[in-house]
Amino acid sequence: MKVLGISTSPRIKGNSDLLLRRALAGAESAGASVEYVRLADYEVGPCIECNACYTNGQCKVQDDYDTLLKKILDADRLIFATPIFFMSVCAQAKNLIDRGQCLWAAKYILKRESLAAKRDRRAMVIAVGGSKSKKQFESIRLTMKTYFDALDIGYTANLFVDKVDDRGEIEEHPSALKEAYRLGSQLAGTGAPPQEPTDIELM
Ligand SMILES: Cc1cc2nc3c(=O)[nH]c(=O)nc-3n(C[C@H](O)[C@H](O)[C@H](O)COP(=O)(O)O)c2cc1C
Repeated sequence: MKVLGISTSPRIKGNSDLLLRRALAGAESAGASVEYVRLADYEVGPCIECNACYTNGQCKVQDDYDTLLKKILDADRLIFATPIFFMSVCAQAKNLIDRGQCLWAAKYILKRESLAAKRDRRAMVIAVGGSKSKKQFESIRLTMKTYFDALDIGYTANLFVDKVDDRGEIEEHPSALKEAYRLGSQLAGTGAPPQEPTDIELM
């Protein structure tokens, strides 16, 4: 069981990053082998809408995207962590998501069957916002659902935390840390996945 955690926050030891680390610790405690990736260590530019992927399912932009995509498709479980920026995922996360257009094209235009779809692959989302707003979680849900659909990976859980703003402030939020650990350990399990993602919303 390989669990990949992708931290998309530009902030080192940011709140979503710290929750991701707890979730990975939970997954490890459940026996998984875990890998942590900091998106800022990779160069992933935006989709340039050249539509080259519509003919071959491949992204022609030359950067680190292919390296990351390989890790994502190899993983049995994915934990995607993002801060909330202007009611949505951060720009770094959005670049990665938009580059998933090649997967969307392979699936919906070229009608290719993804080999990864045949495996039991599952994903969860961690998102942290500074203000008190539950509405912003709706846009995260929609974006991530569409992305996970292109990835052919099951969407099993969300950990959403609002009213946590300063760097590292999440360390003073024991229930969020506890939930991250619990959800990470649950994600590494092989029991039947939920029909709808489990939602944990804390403030
Ligand atoms: C560019 C920018 C936009 C932001 N937009 C929002 C927002 O729309 N809603 C919100 O609750 N917090 C917003 N915040 C605050 C962050 O979500 C908050 O500081 C969060 O803890 C950052 O997570 P991180 O430490 O994982 O990066 C914004 C912060 C920045 C820098």
